[in-house]
Amino acid sequence: MKSPSYQNAVEFKKVTFLRGERKIFNHVDISIPKGKVTAIMGPSGTGKTTLLHLVGGLVQADGGEVNVLGSDYNHIKRSDLFSLRARMGMLFQSGALFTDLNVYDNVAYALREHTHLPESAIHDIVLMKLEAVGLRGAEQMLPVQLSGGMARRVALARAIALDPEIMLYDEPFTGQDPISMGVLLKLIRTLNDALGLTSIVVSHDVQEVLGIADYVFIISGGSVIGQGTPDQIRADSSALVNQFVTGAPDGPVAFRYPAPLLQRDFLGVAHV
Ligand SMILES: Nc1ncnc2c1ncn2[C@@H]1O[C@H](COP(=O)(O)OP(=O)(O)O)[C@@H](O)[C@H]1O
Ligand SMILES: [Mg+2]
Repeated sequence: MKSPSYQNAVEFKKVTFLRGERKIFNHVDISIPKGKVTAIMGPSGTGKTTLLHLVGGLVQADGGEVNVLGSDYNHIKRSDLFSLRARMGMLFQSGALFTDLNVYDNVAYALREHTHLPESAIHDIVLMKLEAVGLRGAEQMLPVQLSGGMARRVALARAIALDPEIMLYDEPFTGQDPISMGVLLKLIRTLNDALGLTSIVVSHDVQEVLGIADYVFIISGGSVIGQGTPDQIRADSSALVNQFVTGAPDGPVAFRYPAPLLQRDFLGVAHV
């Protein structure tokens, strides 16, 4: 039974996170509702991967509260953190497949490691997960035989093998051609709804992700600069959100890095 005591799968309350002197997050509030696809967008280097690491409990906030599936990370026992992590699936860019294992064994791996299920049960689950990503027919293939899009889908089948409640996607479309990107987008949406997941998708592909997300947060400079449904984000009048959504080369985020005036650099005019 899932605990009915929380509305949101993930709740950030006034979260601050530092890297050295730099505030990656400064009193950030984010609520991620259960059962929905929530997109996190923002310029690179802004802290999107860090946000997923905070959700996964891989790093700890320096201030405020991170609450996941009803547990406050400020007051969680180590053993409870491990069982909480088992309720999350992650599809990270770096999450490569084991090259010497075939597709079947890649998906079976987590089940063999984390459960005591008999091989017959593992067999059924693996084929069910491969079916869910459209790759049941590829069970005997080795990673080297897969296209990039197929490999990402096998990684997705592996990530959902243990029936997570939350799926975290970090730039899942990087390096994908438009067709496999479309397939992955559709899978993220259909798996979310069919399996009753909560999905958090970090991506640069603004228009595509706006097409499948229920709710969007745009973060920049340590804060949430925009949030809403895709329609609300598209209609957002803030110049920063607008520049990000339309991909305009110049705006509040300047194309030109601050430099001395041209006259000084080229004409030797000392005082202009
Ligand atoms: N392990 C780390 N040590 C120090 N700085 C880091 C580390 N990981 C990330 N950073 C810095 O934190 C900032 C946010 O990183 P990240 O969350 O990866 O951004 P994004 O995913 O939005 O591109 C970046 O400036 C990055 O250089
Ligand atoms: Mg990142």
